[in-house]
Amino acid sequence: MCGVIGYTGHRDCAELLIDGLSSLEYRGYDSAGIAVFAENEVEIVKACGRLDNLREKLLEVGAPSGCCGIGHTRWATHGCPSDLNSHPHSGGRVTLVHNGIIENYAKLRKALEAKGRVFLSETDTEIAANLIDYYYQGDPLEALREAISRIRGSYAFGVIFSDRPGEIYAVRRDSPLIAARANGESFIASDIPAILKYTKSYYLMDENEIAVLTKDGISFFTQDGDLVEKPLMEASWDVSAAEKGGYSHFMLKEIYEQPRALRDTLSSRISDGKVVLEGLGEGYFKGVPRVRIVACGTAMHAGLVGKHVIEHLAGIPVTVDIASEFRYADYLLDKEELVIIISQSGETADTLAALRLAKSHGNRVLAAVNVVGSSIAREADHVIYTHAGPEISVASTKAYSVQLAAMYLIAVQLASENDKLSSNEIAELCTQLLALPKAVEETFTCQKECQRLASVYQNAHSLFYIGRGLDNFASMEGSLKLKEISYVHSESYAAGELKHGTISLIEENTPVVAILTQKKLMEKTASNVKEVKARGARVLAICRQDAEVDSADDIIRLPEISDLFAPSLAVIPLQLFAFYMALLRGLDVDKPRNLAKSVTVE
Ligand code: AGP
Repeated sequence: MCGVIGYTGHRDCAELLIDGLSSLEYRGYDSAGIAVFAENEVEIVKACGRLDNLREKLLEVGAPSGCCGIGHTRWATHGCPSDLNSHPHSGGRVTLVHNGIIENYAKLRKALEAKGRVFLSETDTEIAANLIDYYYQGDPLEALREAISRIRGSYAFGVIFSDRPGEIYAVRRDSPLIAARANGESFIASDIPAILKYTKSYYLMDENEIAVLTKDGISFFTQDGDLVEKPLMEASWDVSAAEKGGYSHFMLKEIYEQPRALRDTLSSRISDGKVVLEGLGEGYFKGVPRVRIVACGTAMHAGLVGKHVIEHLAGIPVTVDIASEFRYADYLLDKEELVIIISQSGETADTLAALRLAKSHGNRVLAAVNVVGSSIAREADHVIYTHAGPEISVASTKAYSVQLAAMYLIAVQLASENDKLSSNEIAELCTQLLALPKAVEETFTCQKECQRLASVYQNAHSLFYIGRGLDNFASMEGSLKLKEISYVHSESYAAGELKHGTISLIEENTPVVAILTQKKLMEKTASNVKEVKARGARVLAICRQDAEVDSADDIIRLPEISDLFAPSLAVIPLQLFAFYMALLRGLDVDKPRNLAKSVTVE
C-alpha cells in the first residue's frame, strides 16, 4: 500500500508534504514525490527509493514554492520502483497521487491510447490521471465522477487540476483516506499521524465520496454529485504517540508500550469480576454455535490463540482461516456462525474482502480493530477496538498483544453468556487478565539475554521454532517476526510433528527455539528438545518457571502466569530476539524490504 497526503492553506507546503510523508513512509517506501502549485504551474519532484532521496533531490533542484500540493510514498504494485513510476503522475491538466490498484487499467490504457494518449510509466496510476483529464471539460467534480464510474479496483486519489490553483480533490474506494481541517488550511492523508502536528480534527471519507478542499473549507459529495454533511471527528492520539519518544526504533518503543496497550484494552472492559464489551449488549454471544476467525499474518496468529482459548473456556468450536484463502475457498460458512475479523490497520484488502463475503452470506461480523474508523471497523456489524495506539513499525508487536487481549475477552464473554463458567471462575479469569500488563512488564527483564542470544545466533541461516498447543501458535508468531525483519529464514513447527519428517533437517548446531509454557504439554515438548539435542541442535528454551529443560543450551524463564494467557508473555522474548537479530544485521528494523504496514492491495 502507499501513503497519500495533500495540503492547501497559507503555508509554503513542500516541507509540510515531505514531513507528512515521513509519517506515512511505513505504508510504503519504494519511492516518493510531491506536486506543488508553484507560480503558475504544477511542479513535480519525485525520486526512487526512500524519502531521503527525494529530500536530496529537492535540495538539488530547489523545492517548488506554493501553498497547495499533494505528496506520495509508494509501495510498488504496477511497475518496478523507479523515478518514472514514482508518483505523482500527470495526464494533461490533471496531476494525482494514488493508493490502491486499478484492476482494469490495461483496458483503460488501450482505450486512451486509441484516443492519442501517450503513457510514460508502467503504472496504473498514470492511466487514472489521463482518464480524469479525458473527461475534464472544466468541471473537476464531473470529470472525477465520470472517471471513477469507469475504474474497477481500489483507490484513494489526491488530485489537482492545473487550472484550479489552491484546490485539491480527493476520492476513495477500498483504500483509506481522511480529510482534515485547521484554521485556514485543509488536508488529506492516508491516516491520521501524517497531519496530527497541525490538527486533530478530521473527517472519515466514505466509499466513493468526493472531497473538495480549499484553504477555506472542505465540501463532500456523493458519486452522484449530492452534497454530504459529515461529522467532524477528534483524534484521540497525539503527535508523540506517532513518534519514537527516545527509542532507537519504533519497534522497540512499541514492544515496550505493550503493558500500557494491554491496560488500555483490558481495564475499561473488566469491572466487578465481569467482562463488559461496550456496544455488544447483553446476550450478544448467547447461543453462538460456532465461531469463524479470519485474518492475515500476525493477526491470524492471534486468531489461532483465540481459537484455543475460546474452545477451552466456552466449549464452542472455532475455525481459523487465512483471509486470502477464505475469500476464494468453498468456505462452507454456516449462517449462524459468528465471524470474527482481526486486523490492526482495519484496511487489509484480503481481510476486508473476507468481511464483505461473510456479510453477503448473512453472517454476523464482529471485528477486533486498532484503527478507529478504518474500513473494517466501519463495515463490521460490531467492533471491539484494541487500544494499542498507532503502530508504526511494520512488524506487529503491541497490536498482536492487544489482539490476544481481545481474544481473551471474547472467550470469557462467550463462556459467560453460554453458562460454561461460574461467576467465580469468570471473576478469577478477570483478575488474571488485569494482572497481565504487569506480568508483561516483568518479562522485559529478558531484554539483555535476548540481545546476547542474537549475537550468538546472528550468523544462523535458518532456525526452527517449535511448541505444542498454544506454544505452537506462539512459535508461528516468533518465526514470522524473525523472518520479516531480519530476513533470516525460520520455520515454526508443531513439536510433535518433527519426527514425521523435518527432524531430518536437524544437524550440528541447527538453532531451535523451543517454547514450553503449557504445563500439561511440557514433558512432551521437553522430550522433543532432547530429540533435537541428540542430533546436534543448539536449543533456546522459552519456558515457564518450573520447566525441566536442562538439556537446552539457553533458557529464558517467564514470570508465573496461567497457561491460557502465556502467549502474551512468550511473545516478548520472541519479539526482542528478532529485533536484535535484525539490528545486528544492520537492517532497517522498522521498514523491512518488500513490506508495508498494511497491505491494502491483494
Ligand atoms: C506482522 O508483523 C505484519 N505486519 C503482518 O503480518 C500483519 O499482521 C498482517 O499484514 C495483517 O495486518 P492487519 O492486522 O493490519 O490486518
